[in-house]
Amino acid sequence: MEYNGNENDVSARGLWSSRLMFILAAAGSAIGLGNIWKFPYIAGRYGGGAFVLFYLLCILVVGLPLLVAEIMIGREARKNPVGAFAKLSKKNPLWLGVGFLGVASGFVILSYYSVVAGWNVDYFTKSASGEFMGKDAEAISALFDKTITDPWEQIGWHTVFMVATIGIVIFGVKEGLERWIGILMPLLFILLVVLVVYGLIEGDAKAGLTYLFVPDWKKLVLDEAGKFTARPMLEAMGHAFFTLSLGMGAMITYGSYLGDDESLPGAAVMVAGLDTLIAMLASIAIFTILFKYNLDPAGGPGLLFKVLPLAFAQMPLGRLMGTAFFLLIAFAALTSAISLLEVVVAYFIDDRKWARRVATLSLGAVIWFLGIFSALSYTEIFNDFKPFEGKQILDSVDLLATNYMLPIGGFFIIIFAAWRLKGDVVLKQLTEGGKRRTFHDLWLPIARYVSPILVFIVIMFMINQHLGIF
Ligand code: TRP
Repeated sequence: MEYNGNENDVSARGLWSSRLMFILAAAGSAIGLGNIWKFPYIAGRYGGGAFVLFYLLCILVVGLPLLVAEIMIGREARKNPVGAFAKLSKKNPLWLGVGFLGVASGFVILSYYSVVAGWNVDYFTKSASGEFMGKDAEAISALFDKTITDPWEQIGWHTVFMVATIGIVIFGVKEGLERWIGILMPLLFILLVVLVVYGLIEGDAKAGLTYLFVPDWKKLVLDEAGKFTARPMLEAMGHAFFTLSLGMGAMITYGSYLGDDESLPGAAVMVAGLDTLIAMLASIAIFTILFKYNLDPAGGPGLLFKVLPLAFAQMPLGRLMGTAFFLLIAFAALTSAISLLEVVVAYFIDDRKWARRVATLSLGAVIWFLGIFSALSYTEIFNDFKPFEGKQILDSVDLLATNYMLPIGGFFIIIFAAWRLKGDVVLKQLTEGGKRRTFHDLWLPIARYVSPILVFIVIMFMINQHLGIF
């Protein structure tokens, strides 16, 4: 491939120092609040088993193929998402639009992501000061409700988290961070395993595992009134995008730094596998403990914060464990938030020629400001304001971004990779010089037909639910 020595030259942009570094960074982006905070609570809201299995199916036939597509587009173009589409589609406005939609999604998602990350920083301090000790389920729930209704506490932690994210992005994505991911992610993993073991022994293992893995298919397609609803399926699919950081070009950006001779399929499978593993561990820990205390699985966005502190209040070294746990989640959220901000910033740096410092500070400030509305969602000021589907601001924005913007973006990205990229480019990207074709031969038909059709059907059902056309 010829590069003409401008600022997008491979050597000038730099590459990950190895495939391991790419995997760490991509896994750092994928693994975050989506796995530990969001997946368990939506699995609980939509009835467990059937939802979990449908979600796993989405990861396999939509998430993984799209992850491959994004990394491929990034590595081929070596640019930010907007630039990548401009380069590979010769500035076709449709594909440029997809790139812009991605930048917009980054804006929107980071604004509320930072608020939820702030809850974790908050809970890190609460755990450290021993606030969970000796409290029962009721008091722990009340503590969370108090936390999210306090405007200054909400804005304060959101600000702390945004400042940290902006600070890191100013100094570039790569510097030093991968090394921390390689230490702290395994620690988070170990802590989750400890919690799972604790939950299985001390919690209600049978109820938890049955709830999570034994399907009751009615719950996937019927609402409380027994009428057909596409909401759980859309939510499962949307979350497959969210949890793997797909549908907006974050993985295009990360793929643009992956060396040409690293195996792309291997890296993608590894990232998707790790991400799924973490979501399952978090869910098992939460639901085994939840059923021990007879709490409501459909407890909503506060689930993580209402359930796990109960375990920390009881277990040996609980205070230390809780403190470490919330700190590690905040770190996992940070490595995800960085990838969100990086997409937004990279576009303004590469294509609009802004200086990194200026772009990061000003765009970060706008996102911080937008986030204040989410931060105030459950406070007196906005609690009764329900802009979308009867949900408060934070949930509305999350719903809009995850269930609409990401699937629509992802739909076009996978179409682009499977139909618009030249066959020999795809072959080169996926076969390591023609040596191993199996993955490529599986990927192509799935990415061409199965994934787009499935995404399309679910989006259509959803539009119908809103407009009642058929
Ligand atoms: N995947 C992250 C999580 O699960 C969130 C995230 C980071 C993200 N970058 C993204 C979601 C890009 C969508 C798009 O917490």
